[in-house]
Amino acid sequence: MTVVAFATAEHISTISICFLLFLSNLCMNDWLNKAIVGDNLEVMKQLPSNSIDLIYCDILYGTGRNFRDYQDIKPKRDIVEAFYIPRIKGMHQLLKDTGSIYLQMDTRINHWVRCIMDDVFGYDRFLNELIWCYNTQGYSKSKYSSKHDSILFYSKTKKHTFNLETIRNKNPSESTVKRFGKEIEKNGFFIDTKSKKKVYELKGSPPLDWFEMSVLPYAHKENTGYDTQKPKALLQRIIKASSNKGDIVADFFCGSGTTLEAANELERNFFGCDINPKAIEITNSRIKSSLFSTV
Ligand SMILES: C[S@@+](CC[C@H](N)C(=O)[O-])C[C@H]1O[C@@H](n2cnc3c(N)ncnc32)[C@H](O)[C@@H]1O
Repeated sequence: MTVVAFATAEHISTISICFLLFLSNLCMNDWLNKAIVGDNLEVMKQLPSNSIDLIYCDILYGTGRNFRDYQDIKPKRDIVEAFYIPRIKGMHQLLKDTGSIYLQMDTRINHWVRCIMDDVFGYDRFLNELIWCYNTQGYSKSKYSSKHDSILFYSKTKKHTFNLETIRNKNPSESTVKRFGKEIEKNGFFIDTKSKKKVYELKGSPPLDWFEMSVLPYAHKENTGYDTQKPKALLQRIIKASSNKGDIVADFFCGSGTTLEAANELERNFFGCDINPKAIEITNSRIKSSLFSTV
C-alpha cells in the first residue's frame, strides 16, 4: 500500500514528492509492490540500476488528444524524441542484464521510437515488433483502416529470459492432429522426420509476432473506466513469456494498473508509477483486490 492511496487529489503531488525523496535512499526491495504518483523520469532517477527483470509500458501514442484522464503528446518528431530519449535511457539503465522491455504504441510514432530503441539498446537487441490486431468500430474511406498496435520488444543483452512454452498456442493445429494424431493414438508416439526422435504428445504451435485479441469491451468486468485501459490477457502473455515467478515487473506509464495486477496474480513483484493521481487511485484499488483474491 502506498502513502498516496488515501490522499486527496490536492495533496497528492506534495505527498508524492516527499515520498520520492524519502524513497531515494532505499534499495529496490523497498519499492516493491507499490504504485506511486510521479513523472516517470523523476521516479526512474530514484531507482537502483540493474534491478528490474521486465519493463512493459503502454506509452503515449502521439495522438495529440486530450483524453479525459490524460493529455497525449503531439506526433512531432522533436517532441517525441525530447520526451522519449531520456526515459528510454532511464529504462535501459534500470533493467538487469537478463531483462527485457516491451513498449506499446501504434503507427503514429513507432518508427521514431524504434530508432531511439536501436540507439539506446542496440540494433541487435531488437527482438520483435509484436502486432496486436483488433477490430474496433470506425473505418477509413481513404486508406486501409488502422486496426493494430505495435509492441516493440528488446532485451538488454543476449541472456534474456524467454519462456516459449508458457505462451505456446494451446491446441495443436488441425493439420498436425490429422497428420500425427492417429499414430500417437495407435503407438503412443510418432517419429519426427527431422530429428528422428519419438514424439509423445502434440504441442500447440509456437507463438507468432502477431496475434488477434479484442480490445477491452466497455461493459467488461475488468473495465475500470480509465482511458485506453488494456486487456489483462495481453499483459499476462507478456509477463509469462519474459519473466519468472518472484521477478520484478515495472510499468512507468501504469494507468489503471493492468500490468501490476497481472504481475501480482502471476506471483511476480511489481512496481508502477503514473503522473495522474486518479490512475494510481484506481491501480491501488485493483492491486488491493487482486492481493485479496490471490491470498
Ligand atoms: C496509454 S495510458 C496507460 C494505460 C494502461 N496501460 C492501462 O491499462 O490502464 C498512458 C499513461 O501514461 C501516463 N503518463 C503520461 N505521461 C507520464 C509521465 N511523464 N510519467 C508517468 N506517467 C505518465 C498517463 O497519465 C496515462 O495514464
